[in-house]
Amino acid sequence: MRIVVTGASGFLGRLLADALLRAGTFGGEPIGRLVLVDRVAGAGRPQAGGPLVQEVHGDLVEEMETVFAEPVDVLFHLAAAVSAECEADFDLGMRANVDVTRALLDRARAQSRSGGPAVRLVFASSIAVYGSHPDLPLPPAVSETTLPLPRSSYGTQKLMCEHLIADCTRRGFLDGRVVRLMTVVVRPGRPNAAASGFLSGIVREPLAGLPAVCPVDPGLRVALSSPRRTVEGILRVAEAVRGTGPGRLEGPLPVNLPALTVSVADILATLRQVAGDTVADRVTVAPDPAVEAIVGSWPADFDHRRAGALGLEPDADFLSVLRDYLADHR
Ligand SMILES: NC(=O)c1ccc[n+]([C@@H]2O[C@H](COP(=O)([O-])OP(=O)(O)OC[C@H]3O[C@@H](n4cnc5c(N)ncnc54)[C@H](O)[C@@H]3O)[C@@H](O)[C@H]2O)c1
Repeated sequence: MRIVVTGASGFLGRLLADALLRAGTFGGEPIGRLVLVDRVAGAGRPQAGGPLVQEVHGDLVEEMETVFAEPVDVLFHLAAAVSAECEADFDLGMRANVDVTRALLDRARAQSRSGGPAVRLVFASSIAVYGSHPDLPLPPAVSETTLPLPRSSYGTQKLMCEHLIADCTRRGFLDGRVVRLMTVVVRPGRPNAAASGFLSGIVREPLAGLPAVCPVDPGLRVALSSPRRTVEGILRVAEAVRGTGPGRLEGPLPVNLPALTVSVADILATLRQVAGDTVADRVTVAPDPAVEAIVGSWPADFDHRRAGALGLEPDADFLSVLRDYLADHR
């Protein structure tokens, strides 16, 4: 089995690749080769024992020949431009998110047309596909049957890709699976250009002795998921057998991963409880209307029965999310 991960040097791509390497199998079958694609060089991975790792460095569009040089069985498509950069640069978002995905779908389709396997293509989408509008408010609990109405270019691009993947699946070109991720917290390392990046920053930076700005009213409620739960969710949706009944992936809809709903004030209070006043006092609240407009348009309350049917659960509380982060990164 040959598995490809795009965006493999990114935050989640790296964790997903590690999880696949640890497991050594996918859907009960041994992984023969794991192809890790990113324009940024990865950390390098041990080659002993498990699947053979091939790291491909370059822009995905230019590396398509390499990616599809041999049949692809499973493709995790995580490479993307993130929310704030897509809002700042429309063309960049269209290229990085829509054109790249379209090119991948074309290659996957060509593979099955020439008699190769239908690629199981797993797409990392986002709750940014949802948005509230004065004339069309969100229901009290958002589910996969809620009409997505994105309020950002990033959310619109993700939704365009979701529809393309659904149509390619309907036509039998590939087996597309869409996983909508909650905001993943706590993201380690350096801040990124996601509008929701502060949700990690207000924890990570003070713990590292640095000041942090909270650009929203602390009363804002948000839907989160820890890195562990997120990777578990992506893999569960990817490996699920299609059909009806517990553990099966039923019907054509995307899967919203389970959300832990908290207010930003809850996050700050948990940081104070665990790390003390000196650390928590490093956060300054200074609302930024541009960030509030994007993050405030995303839903916070979800009905996660569809993910629950696959055995997925949200994080218990923010305390456990913070403890996971401290265990993994300190
Ligand atoms: N992290 C989150 O909170 C979150 C939430 C919702 C959805 N998502 C989605 O999950 C996926 C992974 O998120 P992440 O946080 O790991 O992102 P990330 O920014 O950390 O990683 C993305 C990686 O993709 C690479 N990349 C982008 N375009 C590329 C291209 N054309 N060719 C080669 N490499 C390219 C980048 O170099 C980067 O390493 C993304 O699709 C993102 O939209 C993430």
